Amino acid sequence: MRRRRRGVDSVTAARLDDIRADVESCRRCGLCATRTNAVPGSGGRDADIMLVGEAPGRSEDARGEPFVGAAGTRLAGALARAGLARGDVYITNVVKCRPPDNRVPTAEERQQCSEYLQAEIEAVNPRIICILGNTAFGSILGGSEITKNRGKTASMNGRMYFVTIHPAATIYNQELRGTFDADIQSVVRIAAEIRSGKVITPDISY
Ligand code: URA
Repeated sequence: MRRRRRGVDSVTAARLDDIRADVESCRRCGLCATRTNAVPGSGGRDADIMLVGEAPGRSEDARGEPFVGAAGTRLAGALARAGLARGDVYITNVVKCRPPDNRVPTAEERQQCSEYLQAEIEAVNPRIICILGNTAFGSILGGSEITKNRGKTASMNGRMYFVTIHPAATIYNQELRGTFDADIQSVVRIAAEIRSGKVITPDISY
C-alpha cells in the first residue's frame, strides 16, 4: 500500500529547512558539547504520520539522522510490513542530540528541545503522531505506563496521537515484535481513516 502524498508546499519546505539549520547549530543545553551531529527529523515532509522517539543513539549521532541504528532497523521493518517506506513518514525525536551513554534525557534537555519538536509538528502537520516509548509519551502528553497505554489513540489541543512502545524494546524482548508490528499497522490504518474523513474518537483525551 503506497500512501498518497499531499504535496510539499514551499513554505513547509522552507520552514523545515530553517528548523534543521536551527537544530544543527543549537547550543541551548549541554548536549551540544558531547554530540558529533545534531539529529533533526527526516522523512516525508508532507507525511500523514509522524513518529517521535526519545533521543539519538550512537549511530544517529554519527550520521546525523534519526533511527538509523538497531532500533531504526526494527522501526523500518515494522513500517515495511505495514506497507510503508521510511520516506512515507516523518521520523524525529523529543531531544535532537545524543545524551552521553544513551541515558534518558533530563527534563531540562527535553524542555530546551521542545520548541523544535513543536515546530516540526506545525510544519509537517501530520494527521497522526505516533509516540514511541515512555520518554516521548511523558514529554509530549505527560503520560506514563506505556505498556498499559500502548495501542491507544489520544488527543490533545486538536491533534491526534497514537501511543506505542519504543522499537528498541523489541530488541530486548522478542515477544514484543508482534505487538509493535500490530501497533504500527493500527496507526497506518487510523491515518488512512482520518484521511478518508472518518471521525476518530480518541481513547484518551487530554
Ligand atoms: N532511539 C531513539 O529514540 N531515537 C533514535 O533516533 C534512535 C534510537
